[in-house]
Amino acid sequence: MRVDAPAPEIITMALADWYRRHARDLPWRSPPGTAPPPPYRVWLSEIMLQQTTVAAVRSYFEAFTRRWPTVTALAAADDAAVMQAWAGLGYYARARNLLACARTVATDHDGQFPDTEAGLRALPGIGAYTAAAVAAIAFDRRAVVVDGNVERVTSRLFAESQPLPTAKQRLYALAATLTPMHRAGDHAQAMMDLGATICTPRNPACGICPLLGRCAAQTEGEPTRYPVKAAKPERPLRYGSIYWLESAGRVLLETRPPRGLLGGMRALPSDIWATLRPAPAPPIAAEWITLPGIVSHGFTHFELALTVHFATVDAACAPPGDWVAVSDILAVGLPTVFAKAARHALDARTVQTQPPRLD
Ligand code: ADE
Repeated sequence: MRVDAPAPEIITMALADWYRRHARDLPWRSPPGTAPPPPYRVWLSEIMLQQTTVAAVRSYFEAFTRRWPTVTALAAADDAAVMQAWAGLGYYARARNLLACARTVATDHDGQFPDTEAGLRALPGIGAYTAAAVAAIAFDRRAVVVDGNVERVTSRLFAESQPLPTAKQRLYALAATLTPMHRAGDHAQAMMDLGATICTPRNPACGICPLLGRCAAQTEGEPTRYPVKAAKPERPLRYGSIYWLESAGRVLLETRPPRGLLGGMRALPSDIWATLRPAPAPPIAAEWITLPGIVSHGFTHFELALTVHFATVDAACAPPGDWVAVSDILAVGLPTVFAKAARHALDARTVQTQPPRLD
């Protein structure tokens, strides 16, 4: 059944009314209709929330703002301290850009974030989405904010049949028709909350939706048909090795090169991760033991299957790095893939009696 497009102003009003009553209480927000929160908090939350859930971000946001309450405090922080505080949130280029942005704001803008979309867009690590979100939420600018939740809600409201990602432009234009002149930040967050709590990907709660009767996808009868997505190519599988070098109850960590995957993070030594199963290339010659089992981890563009190798070595002959007590290894803020490998090594060490040799 083809359904007429809904009236945007009515949707916007019904959504605003719902948000006044049901806005989620989040640490980076101010309640609907009140003064906007400080730009630093809005910016920080938006960077953290990219590719990460609200539930995962909450405690990181609270720890960051306790430790670095302003953008100038963050700008003065040690790179390593910020990378470590970020560990576990993933997508580590964001943390490097976060610092670059804080330093640009501190030095070039006197510690004040620019208050327009264009000004924000010129800062390191701020793309179109983040510029729009900060402009709308922190500066009450009329900016059109479209993240994954907003895309889903909009595609359903208008039963947009063009598949993503081609439909992005159309969805932006449709989202613009819903964006009010004032309190565009509340509107954006209302769309996000609706997407996160009611208009969810798999089981939308249409029965309690404030836009029930105004949603073309729901009227058609199968809201989860939207957003229509183009078929995705499968993520390739890569293989690699991680090396647990132990000496006198301590484990060697290296700092990864600043550019590239997990750049600048502290990590267990590893070798190349490649599609054709590479031969292990340990960082030093030693009596290497290959631990049984595989550690799997999903990155955005590939799946990784890791083998973990273990050796006790003389620290004087080992490559440069930090030696960390075995008992502290899970508390030092390793990126998730290395924390998984460390857990695997710790488990295997305790159950292993006669481990196989590395060929
Ligand atoms: N996701 C991205 N930004 C958000 C915000 N301000 N509130 C809730 N979820 C979000």
